[in-house]
Amino acid sequence: MSHTTLPPLPYDPTTLPRETARHYIPATDQELQAMLGALGLSQLDELFAHIPMPARMVDPPDLPEELGYADLYQHVVAQSQKNRLPDMTFLGDGLPHYRVPDLVPFVAGLRELMTAYTPYQPERSQGTLMTQWLYQCCLAMLTGFEAINASQYDRATALVEALYTAARLSRQGRTHFLLLGSLWPQDLEVVHTLLTGTRLTYEIVPIDPERGTVPLAVLEPQAVAQADGLAGIAFPQVNSLGCLEDVDGLTELAHRLGARAIVVTDPMLLATGGLKAPGTFGAEGEGADILVGEAQHLAIPPHYGGPGLGVFGMRYNAAHQQDIRQAPGRFVGDAQDEAGRPAKVMVLSTREQHIRRHKATSNICTNQGFVATLAAAAILARGEEGMRKACMQARANALTAARGLLQVPGVSLAFPETPFWNTLVLALPCSSASLVETARQRRMHLGVDVSSRIPGSGGNHLLLSFSDLQEPEHLEQLGALFAEAIGTPRAEAAVSLPEVPAAFLRRESVGLPTWDYEPLQAFFTSLSEQNISPDRTCYPLGSCTMKYNPYINEVAAALPGFAHLHPDAPWADAQGTLEVLYTIQEYFKAITGLPAVTTQPVAGAQGELVGLKMFQAYHRSRGDMQRDIVLIPHSAHGTNPATATMAGFETVQRGAETLSGVVEINAGSNGQIAMDHLCQLLDRYRGRIAGIMITNPNTSGVFERHFADIAALIHAEGGLVYMDGANMNAIAGWVNLSALGVDAVHNNNHKTWTIPHGGGGPGDAIVAVSERLAPFLPGVQVVRSGRGYTLQHPPQSIGSVHRHFGNVGHKIRAYTYLRALGREGVRRMSAVAVLAARYLHHRLKPHFPTLPQETPDSPRMHEFIITLPEATFETLEAAGISRARAIGPFGKLFLDFGYHAPTVSFPEAQGLMIEPTESYTKAELDRFADSIILMLHLVHEQPTILHTVPHFTPVDRIDDVSANKHVVVSARLTTLPQVLPNRIAPDQLAQMPLEAIAEAIRTASAAKLQGRR
Ligand SMILES: Cc1ncc(COP(=O)(O)O)c(C=O)c1O
Repeated sequence: MSHTTLPPLPYDPTTLPRETARHYIPATDQELQAMLGALGLSQLDELFAHIPMPARMVDPPDLPEELGYADLYQHVVAQSQKNRLPDMTFLGDGLPHYRVPDLVPFVAGLRELMTAYTPYQPERSQGTLMTQWLYQCCLAMLTGFEAINASQYDRATALVEALYTAARLSRQGRTHFLLLGSLWPQDLEVVHTLLTGTRLTYEIVPIDPERGTVPLAVLEPQAVAQADGLAGIAFPQVNSLGCLEDVDGLTELAHRLGARAIVVTDPMLLATGGLKAPGTFGAEGEGADILVGEAQHLAIPPHYGGPGLGVFGMRYNAAHQQDIRQAPGRFVGDAQDEAGRPAKVMVLSTREQHIRRHKATSNICTNQGFVATLAAAAILARGEEGMRKACMQARANALTAARGLLQVPGVSLAFPETPFWNTLVLALPCSSASLVETARQRRMHLGVDVSSRIPGSGGNHLLLSFSDLQEPEHLEQLGALFAEAIGTPRAEAAVSLPEVPAAFLRRESVGLPTWDYEPLQAFFTSLSEQNISPDRTCYPLGSCTMKYNPYINEVAAALPGFAHLHPDAPWADAQGTLEVLYTIQEYFKAITGLPAVTTQPVAGAQGELVGLKMFQAYHRSRGDMQRDIVLIPHSAHGTNPATATMAGFETVQRGAETLSGVVEINAGSNGQIAMDHLCQLLDRYRGRIAGIMITNPNTSGVFERHFADIAALIHAEGGLVYMDGANMNAIAGWVNLSALGVDAVHNNNHKTWTIPHGGGGPGDAIVAVSERLAPFLPGVQVVRSGRGYTLQHPPQSIGSVHRHFGNVGHKIRAYTYLRALGREGVRRMSAVAVLAARYLHHRLKPHFPTLPQETPDSPRMHEFIITLPEATFETLEAAGISRARAIGPFGKLFLDFGYHAPTVSFPEAQGLMIEPTESYTKAELDRFADSIILMLHLVHEQPTILHTVPHFTPVDRIDDVSANKHVVVSARLTTLPQVLPNRIAPDQLAQMPLEAIAEAIRTASAAKLQGRR
């Protein structure tokens, strides 16, 4: 390996024992042997003995040998340097690149914010809840929309969600849309992919090639003619040619026709001095109805396209009190704890997939939460003046550049009459592609050839985007390029630029407060202390795989060569990233045993959607149009049924009978799919089954031993098999999914492949498919050719599911992890995860019953579900705590011992689902087991403790019922909210003897009860 000079690491790895442990597994070989011994085993592979031999992978997946820490760092730096970053860039095209405030990398390094899970336990997640609340408030102030969710994958998928929302809001059952052809083509492609095969329909209204916009005069007659079915009109504020659309006229037209005005905007341009806030569009200033946008660039560099941050907003005011209940995604709301302390909590969850399943407003689960956190930090760090400056500098740079370039002979504005802001299209006297290449040779990423977006254009239209990153010398060099490549500017030539009408501009100031760096730094630090991280201790959320997230992954993803590359960069300059994407494709073929892979989906739920869209495309390609049933086990995660609905398999029921859509399969007493019920369903829906979705190992932590038989039955019926791979951490490297008969599977990279959960996201997914589905893969495939790594469209692709290439930054993280695991590490990782779970289960079994009951053919894999013993339930009932109300508070007792709670009441109503992962030592697991056993003794001895838990978090139990009755999802920010301290910090709890914790709980509980009397 050649050694280049490396920038120093921003941490000392030798102080982080998990970081430097082989495969990030800190348990010693002796500890692993001791755990195996306790189970009566001697080798790791015995943990998989119950898995049928034909399904087993013969050899470990074919990955390169693992890299040690120093070599790994060396390798990723060298890989990033294979990308050729330009000295300046004018790329943007819907994903601009702005200066990132220093506070952002600081907040990104706060591990308790970055690695925490979705804030389902609000008492231990006030940090995340507050940052996402701040994001909602900042965006509400910028946009004039009262309810901004936190948050969608990207602008394109947020647009799709907006169309669904508008259809749900339509009281007349309208399902048709008009979309302006001036929206970004990459977003329109995603709309096409995701709406195909659903009940929503749309038409694209073409751009006027003279004006670069879609004139109202053209749109209006079309809209009026379709008014009866028209649910919404979706339009950009600044369109894909940089032109400003007539947002007031468009809003007014939509409203006149009883349709929703859906605006696609760039929040950066809504700062004071910038463009009009969408909450004030329309003849009367009533505002648009649904807001969609991209906010990645508010927070982070382009990362070759992702993680993105889809903005989604709704009106929530006197005229629109109920619309918010139709919104997708997550909202954080104002709340109080039992003692009246101010707090935050997730609200309106009854719309979400984990509760409403196939009736949910969206299938989204993991979202882009951490990018929202960073966006909040970035906006607060810029403050009112900083936001204004960024927006106005972008504008000023565009004007300066335009004035210079328009003096070059033959260069003109493509739309001389149409106002623009910071993005403009030039008509050139030469091919724009050749000018782009000339610029590339001078280390300049010039812009995007947008000729194909303009009907009748001859290939000479170039889009240039400006931000606060260009310095005067960059604009001079841009001018010099044009002068040399096209002709000497005529200094005397008069240049006239279109004025932006006052009606398009923001009238009032945003009013963002301004703070200095240090108070903000202290504020975010104290927020992080309200959370807990898997860095410190076992974070036992079952089904979520809260394993250790290596620091080095973050360093790799942030390397400028990776992070600063724009997705429109010429592929010749993106070879380092393309090689990573190609390699990831190859690794996941090896890991799954399946022949083809897509890296575009950005979360497990989106992977599921990709799978079902491919199922539809496959059946359609065979003329097999009547398949309207998806079989899903009763115990499946809520995203499975919600995804089926979004894909177009909407459930129609007559009484208890399901006529079409999602049909549930029962489980047998051993937790596995009930074969007799499955066979009945196959008989009943013969010829109509599009596919089955099975989680394996399932949500009870049990390997579905009959998976291959089930797959064979489904295939014989002409259906296809989706495996929900959320639990790959249990089987990676051991099970060959091809042999199981899987047609599509997602890997949640934020579970198995160490992407941090970010307090809700961004996650990532890699979907692998069988030969049958390979032609239908979404997006592009990276292929290796004589010219290096290039892009290829699968022949019958369903189209893209996310703009650009998905969450590329996360691919860098997953790649870095896989290079550390190497050939042996993949198997070792999953085996130790299973060993940890079995060992912990072994420790707890004598004290707690297991759900569903364990049988010899259902040993637990990476997780298990326990419940309280019958005698405990009875004791609690005698103290006035019903069975139904016991499990939630018991989960909160974990917070008092310094842990996060396990997953409660899913998939078993009275269950505690525990997934320890491979990231902890035997000593840590033993302390965890001892804690849980002590919790049981405590509630036996003093059941009323469950009335007062938790005791040491910054707030007491949060009253989410009131928070949901009076929903408040934004406020005008004037001061930094108060941050309450932990009463006993998790670090301190970790140092205390368990009996001392128990004693502190007894005392705190008694004091609370006393106070309530
Ligand atoms: C079993 C299972 N399936 C699907 C999902 C959805 O994945 P994501 O949250 O990445 O969308 C989850 C998430 O927790 C899960 O546990």
